[in-house]
Amino acid sequence: MSTTEANPLRQGLPRTRVPEPCAVVLFGATGDLTHRKLAPAFFQLAREGHLPAECAIVGFARRDWTDDKFREEMKLSLDEFAGAGVDAFWPQFAPRLAFTSGTFDDATAYENLKTKLDEIDKSHGTRGNRLFYLAVAPEFFGTILEGLGKAGLIYSPWQAGPWSRVVIEKPFGHDLPSAQKLNGEVSKVLDERQVYRIDHYLGKETVQNILALRFGNTIFESLWDREHVESVQITMAEDVGMAGGRGAYYDTAGAIRDMVQNHMMQLLCLVAMEPPVNLSADAVRSEKVKVLQALPRWSAEDVAKNVVRGQYIAGSSQGKEVAGYLQEKGVKPESTTETYIAMKLTLENWRWAGVPFYLRTGKRLPKRATEIAIQFKNPPTRLFEFDAGEAAAGNMLVLRIQPNEGASLAFQAKVPASRRRLQEVRMDFRYGTAFASPPPEAYERLLLDVMLGDPTLFTRTDEVESAWQFVNAILDSWSSGVSPAPIPYAAGTWGPEAANSLVDREGGWRRL
Ligand code: BG6
Repeated sequence: MSTTEANPLRQGLPRTRVPEPCAVVLFGATGDLTHRKLAPAFFQLAREGHLPAECAIVGFARRDWTDDKFREEMKLSLDEFAGAGVDAFWPQFAPRLAFTSGTFDDATAYENLKTKLDEIDKSHGTRGNRLFYLAVAPEFFGTILEGLGKAGLIYSPWQAGPWSRVVIEKPFGHDLPSAQKLNGEVSKVLDERQVYRIDHYLGKETVQNILALRFGNTIFESLWDREHVESVQITMAEDVGMAGGRGAYYDTAGAIRDMVQNHMMQLLCLVAMEPPVNLSADAVRSEKVKVLQALPRWSAEDVAKNVVRGQYIAGSSQGKEVAGYLQEKGVKPESTTETYIAMKLTLENWRWAGVPFYLRTGKRLPKRATEIAIQFKNPPTRLFEFDAGEAAAGNMLVLRIQPNEGASLAFQAKVPASRRRLQEVRMDFRYGTAFASPPPEAYERLLLDVMLGDPTLFTRTDEVESAWQFVNAILDSWSSGVSPAPIPYAAGTWGPEAANSLVDREGGWRRL
């Protein structure tokens, strides 16, 4: 069942505050993200009463669509991705939608947009507040910001009155210099408080729960350091290949830009950061930046030693024969883009010095599973006996980000009737059982937060650049030829064999 279905058990987001009236402008309104994620998220927010009555959504794209045509297309998206019960609420939702067509580099298009928004202020009572969502290819970010700025569509954040905010989708740059350049373009038009760089992982309930688990309890945090933790494994596995015609985009990104620079680094930050002084956006983000600053400064040789990349070849996924990466649509036949990456790193700070963090992500792995496993140290002496073949007696805390959202803690218990033989048992927390409702979709949480003006779950300039700094060293090593080329792995397997050598010390990657 889709989580956006009209589920009577669905907890949804708390309705503590409803945002101020505003007009949302979707750049890239005819694209895949709008179709799959943004349209259903806005619909769900409206249906659950999170949007003010005075809120309109204006699509902006090159196609020559009318308001009615845009509504028709949005209805198709909702029928496909918003679950059951769309028809019942559609008559209330449709009047919020409007469209204006134009190319991103055409000054007249922004003037037309301005006129349209002025009309919408009158017809829908949106009071001049503007949320611009850039769901477009990254090469257009700068052009659109310039167009908005020149047309006077961005207000000064220093003046009282209506607000303007801009959401920028990933990828934010393709390396450190391009991210810095983009940040420069952003800052010409916007104040940092108006910028919302989105990473949808931060909208996931299970990801937010990492901080709740660590800092809303005392028992975990007191053990969360190099004295007690043996190692940490973060896995983001996907069984899909280049679904939905994503080959051409992915071929320019690879696993490192698509997953590591953003989602993976965010998970690492949340696991490794110090407690913030409070939960304000800047307090949380400042602690995350410190983790990124503690990442190793790798030479090309360090990268060759600590990073393994792979590319899938034909194999079988979920019982079906599937093509290799090079045969996927949109992928260059001679491409060396990695679809798998694994690495071993340590954080150079007081809390974590010497503790290995193992990270891996890939496409066409055997299953979809994202989790963080904290392996605690073994007891200092061995008083008890373990089942033959049992490797570690240390406890393990596994945070299951998705699917089967929850957490489990493994510990040892005496086998009944034995004198001193231990066996691993588990305490398990499952969202589905504990809260009896699926968590809200990440995009719902994030869109609502932008409308409420809360940037906590969005990434700040220094965060993005620090993550790129680390990733850039890897990219440099790859392009210098010091690191080996991607190693082929068959679709449906856990990636190249060579990645196992990174985790020798721990007895291998966790079996998921
Ligand atoms: C996106 C990546 O940001 O995240 C995709 O571009 C990836 O390649 C997706 O599949 C994974 O997100 P989720 O929420 O399905 O884990």
